Amino acid sequence: MTEKKTIFSGIQPSGGLTLGNYLGAIKNWVSLQESYNSIYCIVDLHAITVPKEPKDLRHNTLEVLANYIASGLDPDKNILFIQSHVSAHAELAWILDCFAYIGELSRMTQFKDKSKKNEGNITAGLFNYPTLMAADILLYNTDLVPVGEDQRQHLELSRDIAQRFNNRFSPTFAVPEPYISKVGAKVMSLQDPTSKMSKSDDNENSYILLNDKPDDIMRKFKRAVTDSIGVVGYQDEQPGIKNMLDIISKITEEPVQRIVDRYSGKGYADFKVETAEVVIEELRPIREEAEKLMKDKEYLQKIYQSGAEKAEEIARKTLRKVYKKVGFVPRY
Ligand code: TYM
Repeated sequence: MTEKKTIFSGIQPSGGLTLGNYLGAIKNWVSLQESYNSIYCIVDLHAITVPKEPKDLRHNTLEVLANYIASGLDPDKNILFIQSHVSAHAELAWILDCFAYIGELSRMTQFKDKSKKNEGNITAGLFNYPTLMAADILLYNTDLVPVGEDQRQHLELSRDIAQRFNNRFSPTFAVPEPYISKVGAKVMSLQDPTSKMSKSDDNENSYILLNDKPDDIMRKFKRAVTDSIGVVGYQDEQPGIKNMLDIISKITEEPVQRIVDRYSGKGYADFKVETAEVVIEELRPIREEAEKLMKDKEYLQKIYQSGAEKAEEIARKTLRKVYKKVGFVPRY
């Protein structure tokens, strides 16, 4: 690899990707790919922390890969791979488990939220999830981790664990910085704009999927919850409108204030339609390309196999160093 800095990020194959995943993560990855050595993973090990149908998991894993490529991540410029293909992730996660405290893991809001939804069957995997995420990142001497706002806390923990390990032994891991963009880092639910858009939401009108058809997208935006103020404005009292302004601005790069000015004197109906149209046009080529790629499993296989080979080489080197530092006897 060249002297460019390294990026690592990943998405769980736990259902179709949402507009939140796209605007909060993938769209930024595409714009960063020229200036960094980038490694993008489909984190299937993370996805089984809550129950998954094996057949769905297999399908979703390939679909995330297809969406990465369809969104513009060039497989020749980025390492694209499936987490379970590189066993160093699970191995380093165990070591890091021994450097993470129960107290800090208990404070993770994603754990608290997800355990509320799975009360009665909270797995140890769900609890240990953040140390696996730290392993993902630290294996590649990652400098930058582009994610949405909801991953900030996990990233802080990865930094703490890296520093703890480095202090206990000697500098081993790069300490990664978060990259969280100003606009689009938290796309909100269309039905409850005070909470994050999420594919695990029970109400399918609350999220836009990358493979939603134009009619679905239009219908969902037309039904989006707004407010009774009636004037398009960018303020916390109008979370639904604010969310749509962010969505348009993130996609078109038109400053929010200009959009607000364009709507002076107009109602919400036109504004919702414009938001839907902007999203439809942004997602149309991605959906079409992803559909094509999903029919070419051989091509996808070639990408994830070569990705895993490249990732493995880097990951093994780090893991060897870590094993040596903690005092394991080398096999060779
Ligand atoms: P996951 O799979 O929930 O989401 C993937 C990425 O999408 C972002 N995102 C959002 N951004 C803006 N608005 C939203 N509504 C929204 N919903 C999701 C997330 O912030 C994330 O960037 N733990 C991670 C996966 C992971 C990972 C890693 C990420 C595992 N290992 C290593 C980075 C580095 C997760 O559950 O993301």
